[in-house]
Amino acid sequence: MVDAAWVRVAGTADVAEGKVVGVRIGTKDLAVYHMPGGGYCVTDNVCTHEFALLSDGWFEDGCIECPLHAGRFDVKTGKGQGAPIDKDLDVFEVKVEGGDVLAKLPG
Ligand code: FES
Repeated sequence: MVDAAWVRVAGTADVAEGKVVGVRIGTKDLAVYHMPGGGYCVTDNVCTHEFALLSDGWFEDGCIECPLHAGRFDVKTGKGQGAPIDKDLDVFEVKVEGGDVLAKLPG
C-alpha cells in the first residue's frame, strides 16, 4: 500500500466562501468546499448513489445536495443524510498552506 500524500487541490482564491468547486486530480474527481466563516473541506465529487458530480449541486448548511436525486451529505464527515443515500462519501484531511488548499490523498 502506498502512503497517503498531501496534494494541492486548489488555490484558496479559487473557491469563494460558501461555494464548492470540482477539481480533477489525476483520475480522481474531488469537491473542494470553502466553509462559510472559513476553513475548507474536500470530499469525493462523485455521488455514492449514482453518477453525478456533487459540485454541480447545492452547498448549504454544511451539506452538499446532489443535483440528480437531491441526496445530501455532510461535507465535514461525509455522512449521508438519508434516502436515497445509503453509502457515505469519502472525505479527506485538509490543510491550508499560504494560498494553497492541500488534501491528504491515498497514494
Ligand atoms: Fe446523487 Fe442519486 S445520484 S442522489
